[in-house]
Amino acid sequence: MQHTVIDRVDQVAEDVVSLVLRRAADPLAPWEPGAHIDLTLPNWLTRSYSLCGDPADREHYRVAVRHDPLSRGGSEYIHHYLRPGRALDVSPPRNHFPFRPAPGYLFLAGGIGITPLLPMLAAAVAADVPASLVYVGRSRATMPFTEELLSRFGDRVRLVATGTDGRPDLAALAAGLAPDSLVYCCGPAPMLTAAQAAFPAARLHTERFRPAVRTFAPNTPFTAVCTRSGQTVPVGADQSLLDALRRYGHQVPSGCREGVCGSCELTVLSGTPEHRDDIGAPEGRMYACVSRASSAELHLDV
Ligand code: FES
Repeated sequence: MQHTVIDRVDQVAEDVVSLVLRRAADPLAPWEPGAHIDLTLPNWLTRSYSLCGDPADREHYRVAVRHDPLSRGGSEYIHHYLRPGRALDVSPPRNHFPFRPAPGYLFLAGGIGITPLLPMLAAAVAADVPASLVYVGRSRATMPFTEELLSRFGDRVRLVATGTDGRPDLAALAAGLAPDSLVYCCGPAPMLTAAQAAFPAARLHTERFRPAVRTFAPNTPFTAVCTRSGQTVPVGADQSLLDALRRYGHQVPSGCREGVCGSCELTVLSGTPEHRDDIGAPEGRMYACVSRASSAELHLDV
């Protein structure tokens, strides 16, 4: 865990604040575009947000938070109670949306989905690689960082307010894509679905902030064998692995509880996980909030 103090809270769009966090002790852990951190909020909730500041700045992290009317307490708390001067613990950065080298980029952002893409665009421009951003929102007032984007990146940025401009023509963007360019897309589910239909899968990189709607086989019970503690933890069909482990006293971190943030990652030593996350668990890892087991036992490094 890293200790920070809130340096600034700025309203950057309707219902969106940016938080600048200043290191309270050691220099902050390094990060690369696409990374996110977990904020441990004073109301005991943990929430993940993409870093959208400057990766070279080891003194500060910047994130942006949209107030979600269906908030389960995270964005609600941040908007109403977090103020400059407050201490806040944050996790080291994790990156499930890595920025790959390419001869050109098209960035496609929807609303708060601009956050991971902003440092990617900055990195591409700094490296003198052709890059453009199509940034979509209901109206300009709802879209964070528009002034900053226009002043830093000029005509590489195209703002599309769907209320007045309609939706961008993704087929035309796909047709105009330079050879070997990559497309990075972050936004609401309909935008990701439209991008998946328009761009070749091999060139499209997406990040979800809500899980895709999918259907799984009915839950079955299994046993988690915790090799470090020596405990055997039964996981019922009606509970998650995360909840079962916590019930037995294992302090597994968590954030989204929806399989999108990666906070609850565990190392699997043997057994067969049934992956239900939207991250794409690396070999030998699983996300305990949603994933289960298709073998009777899972041996975990817990
Ligand atoms: S808590 Fe976010 S992936 Fe499990």
